[in-house]
Amino acid sequence: MGLLEGKVVLVTGGGRGVGRGIALEAARHGAKVVVNDLGGSVTGEGEDQRVADQVVDVIKSRGGEAAASYDSVADHEGAKGIVDTAIERFGRLDVLVNNAGVLRDRMMFSMSPEDFDTVLKVHLYGAWNTMNHASAYWRAESKDGRQPSGSIINTVSSAGLQGQASQINYGAAKAGIAAMTIIASLELSRYGVRANCIGPGGFTRMVGQARADIEVKNPEDYTEFNAMNPANSAPAVVWLASDDSKPVTGQVLRMVGNSLCVYEPWRMGEEFYSTDAEGNPTQWDPAQVGHILGRYVFRTANPGIDAQRRK
Ligand SMILES: NC(=O)c1ccc[n+]([C@@H]2O[C@H](COP(=O)([O-])OP(=O)(O)OC[C@H]3O[C@@H](n4cnc5c(N)ncnc54)[C@H](O)[C@@H]3O)[C@@H](O)[C@H]2O)c1
Repeated sequence: MGLLEGKVVLVTGGGRGVGRGIALEAARHGAKVVVNDLGGSVTGEGEDQRVADQVVDVIKSRGGEAAASYDSVADHEGAKGIVDTAIERFGRLDVLVNNAGVLRDRMMFSMSPEDFDTVLKVHLYGAWNTMNHASAYWRAESKDGRQPSGSIINTVSSAGLQGQASQINYGAAKAGIAAMTIIASLELSRYGVRANCIGPGGFTRMVGQARADIEVKNPEDYTEFNAMNPANSAPAVVWLASDDSKPVTGQVLRMVGNSLCVYEPWRMGEEFYSTDAEGNPTQWDPAQVGHILGRYVFRTANPGIDAQRRK
């Protein structure tokens, strides 16, 4: 018996790469799957319904149940259509996996406003749009006495959590998604809905944009373990989607290759106070800031340069 028996799982960007691996693994665990994919280029142009259809066909050929959705997550009304597809085709929605993505890498001084907007629209607004509609549905279910066991799984990246030159648009979106997830976990727990993140990895066309030397394959074409299989993070998503992880919310997991870890969230470090000789609170003096941080926190005169050297 699979971990997702009886659940309806919606995967945005489920037609290729990481999302395709999640859609197939969810179906293998007994879920009915809505495969959403606009089918556009890696930089966000065009559309092609065959991209979602192909994954639906694979799931059906294996005896599973799946439906396609072709709307763009970047469009607020489109996102309603995506959520409604699950409810209309399978009668409910239990799991929302926000995975759809595009890339437009440039150093910030060369990036156009359109490159910035396009990436934020798909990743940050895309996750917000579907969460907005799905959370309204779950809240209404809860108020009608049908307490959901809902799970949102959003997709992040080290580019947002650790930083990556040339990805100021993508990194801002991914860091924003992590923050939205933590807030969603706080707002939705009373309605029986959890929200967590996954940081995936693998050779997909997105990675192929930066590296010409890689081979991009569909997850189901790997016949044995390969550290670059984009489906390697799917087990973490299936677990987060399942009732086995019910106490887990507001967390950011990373599963790449055969490694698993949990990101530590931003937290306040040691606090210092400026006082006069009698211990009364005073405003900080700029030179004092550098002295205190250099001596007690950075323990070096060059914290920025040292941090870049360590990278
Ligand atoms: N591949 C990696 O190493 C890696 C690392 C960290 C994070 N990620 C994240 O994983 C997710 C999947 O990326 P991938 O590497 O599989 O890329 P991919 O390009 O192979 O797949 C992304 C899919 O999203 C779809 N999509 C794009 N815009 C859409 C829209 N507006 N509406 C609906 N669908 C849309 C595309 O058509 C595509 O099929 C992304 O969120 C990405 O940022 C990937």
